Amino acid sequence: MKKMLSIAFAWLSFNSLSAQNTSVQNIEPRLEALLAKMTLDEKIGQLNQVVGDISTGTEVRSDGLLAQIRAGKVGSVLSHTNFDNKTAIQQVAVRESRLGIPILFGFDVIHGYKTIFPIPLAQAATWNLAAIERAERIAAAEAAADGQHWTFSPMVDITHDPRWGRVMEGAGEDPWYGSLVAQARIRSFQGDDLSAVNTLAACAKHFAGYGFTEGGREYNTVDMSEQRLRQLVLPPFEAAVQAGCATFMNAFNTLNGVPASMNKHLVSDILRGEWGFRGLVVSDWNSFGETIIHGAAADDVDASAKCLSAGSDMDMAGGTFQRGLQKALAQGRVSEQQIDDAVRRVLRLKFALGLFDDPFRYLNPNRRAQTLEKPEYRQASREMAAESMVLLKNDGGLLPLDPKGPFRKIALIGPYVNSIGHKDYMSFWTLGLGNPQYDSTKVVTPAQALKPRLEEMGFEVTVTEVCLDANCDEKALSAALNAAREADLVIACLGERGIDCGESRCVSTLELPRGQERLLQVVSRNNKPTVMVLFNSRPLAFPWASENVPAILVAWQPGFEAGNALADVLTGSVNPSGKLTVTFPRNTGQIPLYYNHLNTGRPQANFGQMWTSGYLDVPNTPAYPFGYGLSYTTFGYSGLTLSKTAIGPGETLEVSVTVANTGKVTGQEVAQLYIRDPAADIARPVKELKGFEKIRLAPGERRTLTFKLSAKDLAYWNHEGRFKADSGQFRVFAGGNSVEVLEAEFELKE
Ligand code: GLC
Repeated sequence: MKKMLSIAFAWLSFNSLSAQNTSVQNIEPRLEALLAKMTLDEKIGQLNQVVGDISTGTEVRSDGLLAQIRAGKVGSVLSHTNFDNKTAIQQVAVRESRLGIPILFGFDVIHGYKTIFPIPLAQAATWNLAAIERAERIAAAEAAADGQHWTFSPMVDITHDPRWGRVMEGAGEDPWYGSLVAQARIRSFQGDDLSAVNTLAACAKHFAGYGFTEGGREYNTVDMSEQRLRQLVLPPFEAAVQAGCATFMNAFNTLNGVPASMNKHLVSDILRGEWGFRGLVVSDWNSFGETIIHGAAADDVDASAKCLSAGSDMDMAGGTFQRGLQKALAQGRVSEQQIDDAVRRVLRLKFALGLFDDPFRYLNPNRRAQTLEKPEYRQASREMAAESMVLLKNDGGLLPLDPKGPFRKIALIGPYVNSIGHKDYMSFWTLGLGNPQYDSTKVVTPAQALKPRLEEMGFEVTVTEVCLDANCDEKALSAALNAAREADLVIACLGERGIDCGESRCVSTLELPRGQERLLQVVSRNNKPTVMVLFNSRPLAFPWASENVPAILVAWQPGFEAGNALADVLTGSVNPSGKLTVTFPRNTGQIPLYYNHLNTGRPQANFGQMWTSGYLDVPNTPAYPFGYGLSYTTFGYSGLTLSKTAIGPGETLEVSVTVANTGKVTGQEVAQLYIRDPAADIARPVKELKGFEKIRLAPGERRTLTFKLSAKDLAYWNHEGRFKADSGQFRVFAGGNSVEVLEAEFELKE
């Protein structure tokens, strides 16, 4: 039933995409009239996407762009930053090619375009979907004003492995929350009219399973059961279809031996068959050609036949279709109908974007000048960054910094107090800034914001930037040691280089990079209270700091307003409310470590318990669990009550819990609701997130929240290959993270 509903809904939503999600009229007859005029060469040309002025992958073969466009051999250009060039390219396509079909410009708009926002994993940690939508509306407005039509976003991959550099691009480890974030991003990018000049076509990626790459190593093998694929990986993708996402992107990896681009089970059976997705599927960078390197295709002809037949339409950057699709047709490996259907999906998107009505509608220099980098966009980025920061420790209420407190002299120390270069405080995915080696002077660094801010409050502030690269010497540490000696309190700004965050940026260890823990230990010889601020793109492991540093703040990679947002949080003008959507392990060896794990037949109740599932050297528990984050105030949970003790298949259970601000300052709290099915037809996770609400409470204020659960929320992909809820006992949990919870029980009746 669920499957049927989702097909109907997706079919309607896609059709509504061409009707509702665009104000362009009469698309289908115009499309068919154009298709009838096209030669086979021109059709295959529409399925060819060529690299623009920035490369985001392996070097691939691409001749003169304009010559190819004149010859009708290019349907789309990706990663092109130069506005005037895009105008020239469109002029050539429209005025100098035989049929004048406009070019579709695609771009990675991952966390902002010209105004850089916090990385998506940080945005997810706000648990504020409205803020995420605002960020993406701003990104869409800037990118569309700069001539882009289509963003390769949202990345909706779930992962259990923070060694994988792309964990930063997603919403974390939970598929239910990841689905909500995916839909929020798609709604914001696409708006309700794809032809509007401030919206972009979205692209759900990478379909599918990429986040479960072996060893957390980029582009590596993915092998998983259908049950895990359906339960963990696919929900955000299905949610993307239901949100009317215009396009999908293949993943690089094999899934159970079959490269995703040619994986009929994924693209034909599930995406197009079960979910009824009728939109465009684009390869990832040369992933059609890489089926040959994987060893699953003999040559360009074989690769073209297998990828097109699977339902994948457009060839990003590889030229495989250009070299092999015509021969595949001649050999009867594909039909002209299959080629036509793929071309229809490309043309339909171009029509929906309004490109046939006005190919230059997104290339208006005046609108560009009025739209890019508006001051309110930076303010939105600053607010998002402050709201995304997660306070992990605050022993003794060291934070917020109080000018009436015991500290007067503050030493800012570390590699990231004032770092300009390596896209620090951002990530590799800030291509909209232009030059890939962009050394951002637009980022407000911690030193630039904190020094004046703290001095205004009456503190004395020193700044000691510490080089910790391989060639750094003891002198750098001695400078930090001296600065700490002179201070009353140390703020250590540590973490990762921005350029080390994102695709092809995997690590074999999560420990703090480049000797940073040693810096902390050296600096701590003076026994001065220390605040550790992390600029990170993934969970990191810092066991010594967790033991010895009284205050720890995860700032993520916060974007352009890094310093101001950090100052807002450290001074208390913003009370931190971020909560982790990824588990922070104690060490790398614990990976994979995630909250919604199975119980095993020998769960370890206590560390060291023999003959149970555990390690000799470390407890199974994480350093910081999913859903965790502190505030400058405290919150209490009480009164977990259920509207019924049992519900039938069609009924709704109301779960209420009271949250109180038991501290001294106003704060925001993310109340979370989890379930567990302790006796199902198959083993089920010990917890699954099924609800949350972010609320603001004044000191002493209390509020009773009510969540609704129905059989749909209890269903899972079972051993019979369908989504179904098992009748019987269920547990329900409510609290401020996935560990400290109140618990109750109810029954789902047959
Ligand atoms: C990259 C990424 C993909 C991106 C594309 C275009 O290799 O895997 O996420 O959208 O190429 O840059």
